[in-house]
Amino acid sequence: IQGQLRPKPVPWWKGRREQLLALAAADTPRYVYHLPTVRERARQLAAIEAVDRRYYAIKANSHPAVLKALVAEGFGLECVSEGELQRVFEVLPELDPARVLFTPSFAPHHEYAAALERGVTVTLDNVEALRRWPEIFRGRSLWLRIDLGHGDGHHEKVNTGGKTSKFGLAAARVDEFVDAARALEISIVGVHAHLGSGVETRAHWRQMYDELAGFARRIGSVQVLDIGGGLPIPYGQDDEPFDLRDWADGLAEVKAIHPAFELAIEPGRFLVAEGGVLLARATQVVEKDGILRVGLDAGMNVLVRPALYDAWHEIVNLQQLDAATDGAFDVVGPICESSDVFGHRVKLPAGTAPGDIMLIADAGAYGYAMASTYNLRALPAEDVIE
Ligand code: LLP
Repeated sequence: IQGQLRPKPVPWWKGRREQLLALAAADTPRYVYHLPTVRERARQLAAIEAVDRRYYAIKANSHPAVLKALVAEGFGLECVSEGELQRVFEVLPELDPARVLFTPSFAPHHEYAAALERGVTVTLDNVEALRRWPEIFRGRSLWLRIDLGHGDGHHEKVNTGGKTSKFGLAAARVDEFVDAARALEISIVGVHAHLGSGVETRAHWRQMYDELAGFARRIGSVQVLDIGGGLPIPYGQDDEPFDLRDWADGLAEVKAIHPAFELAIEPGRFLVAEGGVLLARATQVVEKDGILRVGLDAGMNVLVRPALYDAWHEIVNLQQLDAATDGAFDVVGPICESSDVFGHRVKLPAGTAPGDIMLIADAGAYGYAMASTYNLRALPAEDVIE
């Protein structure tokens, strides 16, 4: 296991400037995914002994090549919609449905029915669904998602635990769920929690693991504890270190206390964020009231994370990669929204000019996956480097 994830390793794209420029010459904006980096992250997680089952949360990046690569590395897949399930079985028709989780939120009846029909593992997170649609759940083996009452994450918008969150069954209603399930001869074979994304708190997962084990004992029939995803990646050079070995040691300690259960994880970002970059072309450089702005042909419709979460992504001028970063620019897109800004006062070569290819780093997770056609702009292209 790689100990420290930071200081940030030298990114793969630094050595592939010519190849990326050639790809960008065809058309921009485009995402490029480097599969060796995705595989490397997969292997780091596969080396963690306490973890028995690994699922990839495909909402982060559902490109067919990424799905194939991660399944080949031994990962199962976690889906949250019928569309995601369709993608998975289109790309991997031979995949054993037992390796697929369906963990939706407020899904309609027909999505649960379709998932059960496919034979994938369905996770429920409320009693009301059982009461309203008993006929589709009767006699099944299901997982239960619990809100453990606390959450975390890189931004309040990705915190999925606690009273204000729509996710998970309230801990106080677990007994009620168990009774309703028993009445329908449902066996609860897994308990699940995912309480946030981009979590930096070291104790987060071991606490969840321990709390889920407590619920599992009470329920009796549970075999698997799923502690969700949420592992952070080093977007910035100066972020607090996240130590994968320390994370693994924490899980191993809890496992020693509760050896009877299988431990499952379902990360998204950790596996794919660093493997992806966004390439965009500078369209205009404009001065206004002392602020220099460089406009790109990609906006918040292509990568929404900065607009939605004030997320920070490294931005470089790929054309002038070796030039001194002696200028400061606000990097903006072409969308008619004030939040269409990728970064303020970004250090770039002072000579940055229209036509230059710009690279936005660590964009492999929740990049294309969240892209839209807002302002009737086209979706970006995608490329894969084997
Ligand atoms: N499992 C469940 C049930 C989830 O809801 C999520 C993410 C994951 C696993 C994977 O979480 P990860 O390991 O990627 O943190 N768009 C936001 C992130 C939203 C995450 C939603 N759920 C962003 O760009 O930061």
